[in-house]
Amino acid sequence: MKPSNFRPVAYDGGVLTLLDQTRLPQDEIYEQFKTVEAIALAIEHMVVRGAPAIGLAAAYGIVVAAHRGTPLSEADARLRRTRPTAVNLFWALDRMKHVWLQGTDIQPLEDEAHAIHQEDAANCLRIGEVGAEFIPDDATILTHCNAGALATAEYGTALAVIRAAHSQGKRIRVLADETRPWLQGARLTTWELMRDGINVTLICDSAVAHLAGRGEISCAITGADRIAKNGDVANKIGTRGVACILQMHELPFYVAAPWSTIDLSLETGAQIAIEERSEQEVTHIANHRTAPEGVAARNPAFDITPAAWVSNLFTERGATGQNIAHGLASISSPTL
Ligand code: MRU
Repeated sequence: MKPSNFRPVAYDGGVLTLLDQTRLPQDEIYEQFKTVEAIALAIEHMVVRGAPAIGLAAAYGIVVAAHRGTPLSEADARLRRTRPTAVNLFWALDRMKHVWLQGTDIQPLEDEAHAIHQEDAANCLRIGEVGAEFIPDDATILTHCNAGALATAEYGTALAVIRAAHSQGKRIRVLADETRPWLQGARLTTWELMRDGINVTLICDSAVAHLAGRGEISCAITGADRIAKNGDVANKIGTRGVACILQMHELPFYVAAPWSTIDLSLETGAQIAIEERSEQEVTHIANHRTAPEGVAARNPAFDITPAAWVSNLFTERGATGQNIAHGLASISSPTL
């Protein structure tokens, strides 16, 4: 697998640089962030998005705070308030807090954030290898949202599996669904895969059941924002619908995620906080109003897919197998 030629998150000398994902695919613009408040707003407004990338941006946010002399407890609290669902944010901030509680020197904080960055890239590479074993030759793979290099340090999670299968010479075709309302599939997944020369076709979210019914989908693979101890998966709104459709058609539904996405402190997915975003994302498309003025709208940004609908979970520690809870317990055990 080759690394991509864009960097969603980069840090140097007290400045965080983010590829502005709100501007893709039209413009590839890198913006610099020099304060914690600016970084927190960038996470909230999805300049940077995707569970591991959010964690990484927050980790660098602590380093930026140390450079500026911003109290680290304030920076930590502000960054924790940005987005509630992806556990990687809290996981990364916990790692940084462990360092700053021992002293507020900048160098150890920078080293820790760089370690999170490098580990995530290595984990994604490994997730790709683990998952690609389950992708047959000549497969049509559906993916939802964007769990690609844009959402991680490098390679992606679901898209790492696709990239690994492709680089092994398997003939694969990808169906990217649009992923209303934010259009991560239409805007980001297609952009990434086209740059890598991977065969990708954009479909409407509502076309999934039709294509599955016609035998035009071999399997689906998505990322995750938080996975509970029993294997329930929080991911982008619409994931549960995709998993339900795949289950009805007896097709495999796979999830790919680093261990940093697994939250063993929660027994089930019912305990995962689901972010509700602005109604405007539903009533408008690209700032153009598509619904009547004054209409009520709801915008839950994530949903929970029951573990029973997930055929396998690919992590850097291996695949859990169909009994996700059992698999998580065995691969997290230090004796195995
Ligand atoms: O709201 P987003 O775009 O941050 O949601 C992203 C997703 O749901 C991804 O599937 C998930 O974070 C995994 S990214 C490797």
